[in-house]
Amino acid sequence: MPPTRRSFLTQLATAGVVAPAWLSSASRGAEPGAPVAAFAPGLAAAVDAAGRIAAAMAGASSDPAVVAADEPRWAAVQASWAVDRTILNLENGGVQPSPAVVNHAYLQAWLASHDAPAHSLNRVLWPQVEGVRAHLAAAFGCDSEELALTRNTTEGIETVLLGLRWTAGDEVVTTTQDYWRFHNTLRQRADRDGIVFLPITLPVPASVDEIVARFAAAITPRTRALLISHVINLTGQFLPVREIVLMARARGVLVVVDGAHGFAHVPLNRDALECDIYATSLHKWLGAPHGTGFLYVRRERIAEIWPLFPAPAELRGNIRKFESIGTAPAAPYLAIREALVFWASIGAERKAARLRWLRERWLAPLADEPWLKIHTPRQPELAGALATVECAGLPPTKLAAWLWERHRTLVRPVIHPEFQGIRVTPNLYTTPADLERFVDLLRGAVLKGLG
Ligand SMILES: Cc1ncc(COP(=O)(O)O)c(C=O)c1O
Repeated sequence: MPPTRRSFLTQLATAGVVAPAWLSSASRGAEPGAPVAAFAPGLAAAVDAAGRIAAAMAGASSDPAVVAADEPRWAAVQASWAVDRTILNLENGGVQPSPAVVNHAYLQAWLASHDAPAHSLNRVLWPQVEGVRAHLAAAFGCDSEELALTRNTTEGIETVLLGLRWTAGDEVVTTTQDYWRFHNTLRQRADRDGIVFLPITLPVPASVDEIVARFAAAITPRTRALLISHVINLTGQFLPVREIVLMARARGVLVVVDGAHGFAHVPLNRDALECDIYATSLHKWLGAPHGTGFLYVRRERIAEIWPLFPAPAELRGNIRKFESIGTAPAAPYLAIREALVFWASIGAERKAARLRWLRERWLAPLADEPWLKIHTPRQPELAGALATVECAGLPPTKLAAWLWERHRTLVRPVIHPEFQGIRVTPNLYTTPADLERFVDLLRGAVLKGLG
């Protein structure tokens, strides 16, 4: 019997997974008893995979931290990726592999788009992308009229930083740890428009109070905006978005949130963050196809931001003005649905807890070594999967090259004027045995050298 949305919701409920509102309320062609294929191509396979995961989680503890350590329950999740297991991939921060069901859905939509593109791409597939906008908006907790689909965080943040009406003397505050591309953008606006770009430093690691106090101290009567990372990519530190937004709003300052590593990594929703602008990449923690992201803009702020590519004047207050990029594939966007279903079958809190557990599985055994310096806070509310460490005597670039060339192990070297190290990022498909091997490799490198 083909799976139906109702049977999927029942499976999730049996497993103790609270079905997200976007799934239970999404109604485009999706009557509860209708076959899954009727409401999204490729979704049947995703529902099958999600059903296996939900079944493995059935009867699990309601405490995500307990489930995170309950190894047998994670086998179905680990098996959901068709990755090359001869590579120990601990570089899941930049871009991630998608679960097999997402790739399957993507390929199905890609092939369908080539039937007769003027019809199949433009008239059949693109209109379905509106349903994806609705699902994503519900998952983020905003209205679908506030969410633009983008190709990545870069597109979302560039749109905002280049589209806001700042003039000479207006100040924009960010940190020295924010993403390098956006430093370039603000430098260009400084050169072109005379804005003042003020990068502040933050302690590594930093407490919530210190972070908010440093941003507050940097605000002057000329400050127009703060650009903050939800998760700092260099260290994995989470910033207290809500506290920063409330502090800045009280002073009339807009906060632009770079959520590249936030969505589907940190459990969140718009109202908990309180943010007005949030951009993310879905090819990172959601595991959606490469080249997918979204830009959220609070409804009343849409009109004040120029789009990167000019759109018809009547779209001035319409979120779709940010999507006016010309011919583009619909397949990556359509497969976001399968990535959302996959994520829902695990649950946002359980995923976050498991990622922290995986981080601690390699970090805890090394934490007391005198040669290790940890640049990431380890409290649950301050970091997730990403952690950066410095090994005394081992230059990060050489260590990362040695790990790859000798041991097919991927990590990211981090070289910053204020600190350095290797960034290590497991993913849900990473096994405890993988991480034990990594611990041995790091110990060996320090004790025996890289020779
Ligand atoms: C903090 C941060 N912002 C933005 C980006 C850009 O993401 P994308 O290349 O998906 O646009 C990254 C990429 O890793 C990042 O780490």
